[in-house]
Amino acid sequence: MVKLIIDTDPGIDDAMAIFYAAAAPDIELLGLTTIFGNVTTKIATRNALRLLEAVDLELPVAEGAAAPLSLPPFAPSAQVHGAEGFGDIPAATPKGQPVAEEAADFLIRMAREHKGELVLCPIGPLTNIALAIQRDPDFARNVKSIVIMGGSLREGGNITPHAEANIYHDPHAADVVFAAGARLVMVGLDVTHRILCTPDDFASIAGQSPELGGMLQEMSAFYLAFYETVGKLDGCSLHDPAAVIACTHPDLFEVETLPMRVSCSGETSGATLEAEVGTRKPTAVCIHVDAPAVKSLFLKRLALLP
Ligand code: BDR
Ligand code: CA
Repeated sequence: MVKLIIDTDPGIDDAMAIFYAAAAPDIELLGLTTIFGNVTTKIATRNALRLLEAVDLELPVAEGAAAPLSLPPFAPSAQVHGAEGFGDIPAATPKGQPVAEEAADFLIRMAREHKGELVLCPIGPLTNIALAIQRDPDFARNVKSIVIMGGSLREGGNITPHAEANIYHDPHAADVVFAAGARLVMVGLDVTHRILCTPDDFASIAGQSPELGGMLQEMSAFYLAFYETVGKLDGCSLHDPAAVIACTHPDLFEVETLPMRVSCSGETSGATLEAEVGTRKPTAVCIHVDAPAVKSLFLKRLALLP
């Protein structure tokens, strides 16, 4: 059983990842922390609470940073995820509230309380994780691992020709994380671009899980339409679910172990690059994936939901 916290900017594929984690029998979800990216941090918090209520889980949601470490704030990615984060599904107010503790402090405390056991899966920009590292010198040692959805080794970018969106939205934070010495796994575009879900796949999820699968199918229409606008007609990538699956099924991913750094300026800003050997502890960078196995796990487990 993996003890997991997801740091998230929900977000359509974030919603898929959180529903997957709620359904997975090998994951003990301990809470969510929120960050800007697909939406503002405030909307991310509201959406995170709403997703947990949908899957009937009473768990803490800790709100994170409102802006990157050094860069000015970016506009949310409304063209990909819709103005409220869930495509065309209108905003709804959750019943619950976030906890009083801010995300970085919540992460620090949880990493101490579950020392050596906590797996952290950031599926948005890495600001909260960098703040936790900067505030607590033991944080990187206390977590079991940090499995990042972000970056790209050889695949090129998705928000610029060089950068993947999560890293691009706070490159300084990502560089702090790659330099921290924690056990890191990078689940980037090299693998997530290989794992595609089609309208038929979402229809099959909705057929078996009418309520929650149906909600994902409704959201996915907006996401799939965006993919079509950028010439990707064979489905949408399961970016965030792939990272959550990598937390429990590392065997489905082939890695290269490399020290990594992040470009923080100029036209390559947000690019994840190999650092000089010996300058930082290596990251397990996913370069190949058993895409049919990841997808089948995703479809099979979502079907368990109501
Ligand atoms: C990442 O960026 C966001 O749009 C997605 O939710 C995912 O986390 C993919 O580049
Ligand atoms: Ca995300």
